[in-house]
Amino acid sequence: MENYWNKQQQKPHTLRNGGLWRDESGRHINAHGGGIMKYGDTYYWFGEHKDDHTSNAMVGVMCYASKDLMNWRNCGVALSVTDERGHDIERGCILERPKVIYNKVTGKFCMWFHLELKGRGYNAARYGVAVADRPEGPYKFLYSSRANAGTWPIEFDKKACAIADTLNMDNYKKWWTPSWRKAIDKGLFVKRDFAAGQMSRDMTLYIDDDGKAYHIFASEDNVTLHIAELTADYLHHTGRYTRVASGGQNEAPAIFKHDGTYWMITSGCTGWEPNEARMFSAPSIWGPWTQHPNPCRGPKAEKTFNGQSTFVLTLEDGRHIFMADIWRPRHPRDARYIWIPIEFEDNKPVIRWRDEVTF
Ligand code: DGJ
Repeated sequence: MENYWNKQQQKPHTLRNGGLWRDESGRHINAHGGGIMKYGDTYYWFGEHKDDHTSNAMVGVMCYASKDLMNWRNCGVALSVTDERGHDIERGCILERPKVIYNKVTGKFCMWFHLELKGRGYNAARYGVAVADRPEGPYKFLYSSRANAGTWPIEFDKKACAIADTLNMDNYKKWWTPSWRKAIDKGLFVKRDFAAGQMSRDMTLYIDDDGKAYHIFASEDNVTLHIAELTADYLHHTGRYTRVASGGQNEAPAIFKHDGTYWMITSGCTGWEPNEARMFSAPSIWGPWTQHPNPCRGPKAEKTFNGQSTFVLTLEDGRHIFMADIWRPRHPRDARYIWIPIEFEDNKPVIRWRDEVTF
């Protein structure tokens, strides 16, 4: 095992994809399933702190800061788990894929993440929200919840709502049959979770040019993605949401806009094992979303280079950087990172493997 405290390569000129990425103190950066927010002239990288032997949250969300995307200063724990028994973010819960956005109107930094309550596996399927006055935190936990209880997706007209309302889980016990697929399409799981709220697992956040923000998450037992609009303070859902790729089993959504087109890169659902990336585009955040072939090229392109998408960072010059995690479930802390600038071919994003990148 490599030594985290080994101080070689203190000022990296390149980042080696899949290598050990050290912060300014020489330690392997511990910010998995992460995302980046730029505030002022500084990039803030938020991600899951992972332990040596468990993927559960024993510490919380880490924050690192950099001015050049290459040299990262450890800003410490941005959102800390707690030892209070029964608390939503009790130490040992599952807290994944944290993302932070800045709200220009309130002046607050808003963090959303996927939360699973301690001891309940992946059954809670909630999102959590925390807020801070400074980018690096400390973030104050506000609440956790299922999503959009009591509301149908915007594409369901009166008739579709009435049909969805009649769907009964007892009639569709077997998954993946043609009739089950049809029922999923019509909202079988949306109806099942209508009153309690929709499931919310792998997620990202996106702020559009008009300042509206969206929460994009794997819902309906990871079978269908939801895109939900956030309130002006970025702390709640408005109740407006749309479904994407119903029955498509997408996780790990990462979204960006290029020349007016919305692009989303996702993965399939194979736990910590890598699989082939998927890609979608739409003329509006509300769709319609069209699926495209895998954007990855090069060795292990059919397994996303052994990684899984987590975020796409758009730079001020319009370039986009695809970010992925190479998970190490047996040594979660030692999971690695892949960052690759996105190219465009025939107006479509292409992610071509690179051993090293520099910014
Ligand atoms: C895949 C998800 O993308 C990860 O964030 C994590 O939840 C794992 N599944 C757990 O198996």
